[in-house]
Amino acid sequence: NMGAEGMDVQQQILHALEKNGVVISNEFAVSEKETHQKVINVKQIALKTWECTDEGNNLATSGSHEARLFNSLPPEGRSLTDIKASFPNSNFALGAAMKNKWLKKEGEKVIPAVSAIEDEVQIHLKAIAAGGENSVPDKIKAEYKKRKLIKEVDMTVFEVSKGSAFTTSVMKQEAELTKEMIESGQWKGKTFKPFNFKSKGRIEQRSGYLHPLMQLRSEFRQIFLEMGFTEMPTNNYVESAFWNFDALFQPQQHPARDAHDTFYVAEPGKTISVPEDYLQKVKKTHSSGGYGSIGYQYDWSREEAHKNLLRTHTTAVSARMLYKLAQEGFQPVKFFSIDRVFRNETLDATHLAEFNQIEGVVADYSLSIKNLMGLIKGFFEKIGITKLRFKPAYNPYTEPSMEIFSYHEGLKKWVEVGNSGMFRPEMLRPMGIPEKVTVAAWGLSLERPAMIMYGINNIRELVGPRVKMELILDNPLCTIDKWTPTGNNS
Ligand code: PHE
Repeated sequence: NMGAEGMDVQQQILHALEKNGVVISNEFAVSEKETHQKVINVKQIALKTWECTDEGNNLATSGSHEARLFNSLPPEGRSLTDIKASFPNSNFALGAAMKNKWLKKEGEKVIPAVSAIEDEVQIHLKAIAAGGENSVPDKIKAEYKKRKLIKEVDMTVFEVSKGSAFTTSVMKQEAELTKEMIESGQWKGKTFKPFNFKSKGRIEQRSGYLHPLMQLRSEFRQIFLEMGFTEMPTNNYVESAFWNFDALFQPQQHPARDAHDTFYVAEPGKTISVPEDYLQKVKKTHSSGGYGSIGYQYDWSREEAHKNLLRTHTTAVSARMLYKLAQEGFQPVKFFSIDRVFRNETLDATHLAEFNQIEGVVADYSLSIKNLMGLIKGFFEKIGITKLRFKPAYNPYTEPSMEIFSYHEGLKKWVEVGNSGMFRPEMLRPMGIPEKVTVAAWGLSLERPAMIMYGINNIRELVGPRVKMELILDNPLCTIDKWTPTGNNS
């Protein structure tokens, strides 16, 4: 396809000729769709016309026999016997010349009767040879035909007339209808290229690639959705210390709350509000306890709780969601989140000041640590990890707490793949979560499996300004079942 719609008909025909060597007008019109018809209309007409025979052509160039005879005679004439002996077609020539009164007989001699002649036969035949047959009367043509000077022939002609889109200038066809054309009304005067559905698509379609991390995130998201989990809204990087720490029963003097570990926000430095009745319960639980606990026995500070920070874990989101759930009337739930968190880390090959956390939370009546272990087993099985071990650990907000280890066949050792636990009553009860309800939760980082799956040893090759576009564009699709954990998460 030449994209012929942009050319005028003349050009189109030339292109078709170059390509095919021959152009049949009706086939041409079909192949070029209606373009041909729109620009010019061609009508075929069958005509009859006249043409000189060889003899006719001869007379047209050399003159009629009678004229030639007349021109050959000297003024005193010649004898009839002499003429008949030497002049070709003398009988015919003599008869015609006499009839025209060009010659007359004087005894034995033939002499000119006029001083000059006009050879009408030659004039007629010349006209017919040149296509000017209309100037020759039909009666004469009939006579010439009888004399085999001319013959009738069939002729095909084409009547060419303007089509509806006829133009003498080659107009550029528009490829796109723009907003401006519509607004100005210019579109009315434009012609538009028809869509070319035969054209091939671009081979390289360099757009719409997911960054490896985002690709893996969507796979984890899929796993949670398959397990019947609902995604929590994680669209707030800035969080108050209250939801990030206090609501999670993390004491205000805990080292993780130190500025060496947590990024505090300077402006706005304080959160706008925290539900007051809930804040009072949190304050009491921290300072003097409740729900079978003596608390931490310290002066809880509202100031400290109102500080804004960049959330250090997605468990802050889980706390907000559990509080909301209790307010709306508790229902068993399965929640998950995958999003970014921030920590004031010393940067190295495996640590950045920000990373993504994957978190699962299940709240139901009478869940036990056995249920938590079952949930974690089911989740990790989905990513191809079957050998799991749990190691007792400590989190301020879970009891019991367990680090999750997986046996790495390649490294021949157990490596940490996540953290987990049952949320403490000191966290759940002030929220209003019913007493028989227990909440199991676990978390892991997104970057670590991503680095392993994509064979990246330095986190800076995966995240940040040094990431090469090729990483995103050229990486083969890695799927989660290829992941075998290595190294250390923390
Ligand atoms: N929030 C923990 C972390 O930052 C992970 C975790 C989530 C632990 C849920 C227990 C329960 O690593």
